[in-house]
Amino acid sequence: MHKRLRGFGLASTIIILGACTGTPVTPHVAASAVPTPSLAKAWQGQVLIGAAVDEKNIQSQGTLIADQFSSVVAENAMKPMATEPREGEFHFEAADAIVRFAQSHNMAIRGHTLLWHLHTPDWMWQGKNGQPADRDLVLARLKRHIDAEVGHYKGQVYAWDVVNEVIDEKQPDCLRNDKWHQVVGLDYVDYAFRYAHAADPAARLFINEYSTTETAKQRCLLRVIQGLQERGVPVNGIGHQMHISVFYPRVEDIDQTLTAFARLGLENQITEIDMSLYKWKDNHLYDTRDNLLALQARRYGDIMRMIHNHPDVTAATWWGVTDAGTWLNQDAPADHNDQPLLFDAQGQPKGAFWAVFKAARR
Ligand code: G3I
Repeated sequence: MHKRLRGFGLASTIIILGACTGTPVTPHVAASAVPTPSLAKAWQGQVLIGAAVDEKNIQSQGTLIADQFSSVVAENAMKPMATEPREGEFHFEAADAIVRFAQSHNMAIRGHTLLWHLHTPDWMWQGKNGQPADRDLVLARLKRHIDAEVGHYKGQVYAWDVVNEVIDEKQPDCLRNDKWHQVVGLDYVDYAFRYAHAADPAARLFINEYSTTETAKQRCLLRVIQGLQERGVPVNGIGHQMHISVFYPRVEDIDQTLTAFARLGLENQITEIDMSLYKWKDNHLYDTRDNLLALQARRYGDIMRMIHNHPDVTAATWWGVTDAGTWLNQDAPADHNDQPLLFDAQGQPKGAFWAVFKAARR
């Protein structure tokens, strides 16, 4: 089995479909009678190709997801507020449906996420008699949450984003100044990883972060990781979210970033990739939509070709299935129409799809 995919239980034969030869990289690909070749199969034995899904996706787009992807992650259903909305009251139904779907199609399953400052339920911070919860109580609750969730999916979820977005490069200790930091202290990250490892020793444990290509953020993440390693905390890899744009970051910077973390002996996964046609929090289109989609296809191809130089990269997960469901249009102005994914709003493969497909061939 290819070294990148050891432990996934997926076949390692690389199937390169003849259809990829000469396939045009164009922004719009009309629906045709010819079946779309499988991205997952094209990349089989090299990198798992993942999608973030919810229950609605697997009902309405199940065939597309099963044909095109070899891995899934729940976009929202495994987050703490979804799985333990009230203390000790666990809800795994929505996530279980995703897990059942993935298993029935022999897909790998990532778990996202066990601890995230934006998704910690309020009860975590409430103590007895209206007092705030103290460090010991919060750690006991964190342990119970992780035991329950990781235990529930033991042997099914192969990789967990144990902590999400904990880095703040503006803080002297590089950790976000949030309630976890204030109530528990610096070592809450250590505890989260140790609890997850105890609950499923075979699961691969990731620290998941955005903007890892930015110098200050990257330096801080490297520092935090080195600290975890020195203290013997069981961390296996870095999840690079990669919510990027057609304008940035440069492919060389992504390459350098992956190398920096691989040097620490870590596995790299791209966990939430999408490529916006806009600049961040900007509603202006800087070129024609067709030109931007062509640029998107080119950059997706360049990124995926670069990944061939990185045996440390084991998976690339897109944050959504079709452009109709992207989070980038959530809470956006009415005329904002981002198209960051590989399939258009009708579920048809875009230029971006063909570029990623073609990039599978070395
Ligand atoms: O499901 C309810 C619906 O019933 C209700 O009517 C509606 C009204 O607001 O809200 C719906 O829930 C929303 C949910 O997405 C499902 O669409 C939540 O409000 C909304 O906050 C939630 O946003 C998610 C966000 O994380 C916060 O959890 C996005 O879908 C999801 O894509 C996004 O994912 C994050 C990753 O976890 C971490 N990295 C960044 C990434 C993008 O923000």
